[in-house]
Amino acid sequence: MISFEHVMKHYPGRGKNAAPVVALDDVSLTIEQGQIYGILGRSGAGKTTLLRCLNHLEEVTSGTIRVAGTDWTSLQGKELRSVRRQMGTIFQHFNLLASRTVFDNVAFGLELAGEKKQDIAPRVTELLDLVGLPDKAQAHPSQLSGGQKQRVGIARALATRPQVLLMDEATSALDPTTTEQILDLVKDLRDRMGLTVLLITHESDVVRRICDGAALMADGRVVEHGNLLELVSDPESRIADQLIPLGRAQDAFEGRSQLLSFVNQGVSEPLISTFTRETGINVSILGGSVEQIAGHKVGRLRVAFDHPHGGGLDDALIRQFFNERGVTVSK
Ligand SMILES: Nc1ncnc2c1ncn2[C@@H]1O[C@H](COP(=O)(O)OP(=O)(O)OP(=O)(O)O)[C@@H](O)[C@H]1O
Ligand SMILES: [Mg+2]
Repeated sequence: MISFEHVMKHYPGRGKNAAPVVALDDVSLTIEQGQIYGILGRSGAGKTTLLRCLNHLEEVTSGTIRVAGTDWTSLQGKELRSVRRQMGTIFQHFNLLASRTVFDNVAFGLELAGEKKQDIAPRVTELLDLVGLPDKAQAHPSQLSGGQKQRVGIARALATRPQVLLMDEATSALDPTTTEQILDLVKDLRDRMGLTVLLITHESDVVRRICDGAALMADGRVVEHGNLLELVSDPESRIADQLIPLGRAQDAFEGRSQLLSFVNQGVSEPLISTFTRETGINVSILGGSVEQIAGHKVGRLRVAFDHPHGGGLDDALIRQFFNERGVTVSK
C-alpha cells in the first residue's frame, strides 16, 4: 500500500558552509493496506520527517514513495491536491481552530476541497457520530476535554475519506484511559474502513495495544522492522525487547541462554517440569514476561538448559519438544 524506496531527505545545515542534516538516510519500508504500523525511535531519529514526506509537507531529496502503486514523489498541482486528500493527519496538540465550532472545524477541510455546502452538513454530522461526539457540534474547542478534542481531530482527518491516517504522537497529551479510548476508536475505524494507519509514538503501551507491525528508526535509518508477532521470536529484536522485556541475561549464563517465545500459548510450569521429567534436562528461567500484543497473548522467556550430570544437550530434541507445544526456541 505504502512503500518507501531508498528515500533520502536532507535539510540545509544551519549557517554558511554547514553540512546538510541527513534526516532520512536510504529508508526502504513497505506497509500493507489495513495495517496499523508504528514508527519508533529516539528524538531526532527522523520519524516526523518520514510522515511529512509522505503527506507532501516536505519533498524527498531522492528516492521514491509509492502509495497504492502510484509514484507519490513526482505528483504536482491538481493531481497532488487530489491525492493529498487520501491522507488524513492527526496531531499531538490537536491543531483545532479555536474560533470555529466543532462542526466548522470538521467542515473546514471539506470547504477547502470545494465540496458543496449541502453535501458538507450531512457528512460532518456523520463524522461526529462516527467519533462519538454527536452532541458537541456547536461547542468550541476550549469547551472540550483533550480526548474530545482528539476525536474532533480524527473526524476532521477522515472528512475527505482518506485511505491513510497519519498520527504523530497523537495520544501523548492524553491520560492513559483516554489514550486507550482513542486507540480503540482508531482500531475500530481501521476495521470498518480498511484504513492504513501510520503512527509515531514513544509509548510501548500504544504499540502493544494497536500495532500490527513497527519500524525502529535511528539516525535517519530504519534499523529494524517487521510484523510484531514475528519479531517476538527474534532474540536480537530491539522492538520485541521494548514491548516484552526479557531483562538482563545473568552473567553465569551469558552466551548460552536461549529464547522461548510463544503466541497465544502458555509456557506453564507443567510444561517446563514435564520437559525436565521426560528429558532429564533442567531449565533455569532467567527472565521474561507475557504481554498482550494486538489482542494476542505473547510471551518471551530467557532460559538456560543444563544437564544435571554434565551430559551434552540434544538441541534437536529440545526444539522438537517445545515446537510440538507451540513454543519457538531460538539461540
Ligand atoms: N525543518 C528542518 N530544518 C532542519 N533540520 C530539521 C528540520 N526538521 C527536522 N530537522 C532535523 O532532522 C532530524 C530528524 O528530525 P525529526 O523531526 O524527523 O525527528 P523525530 O524522530 O520526529 O524526533 P522527535 O521524537 O523529537 O519528534 C533531526 O536532526 C532534526 O533536527
Ligand atoms: Mg517528531
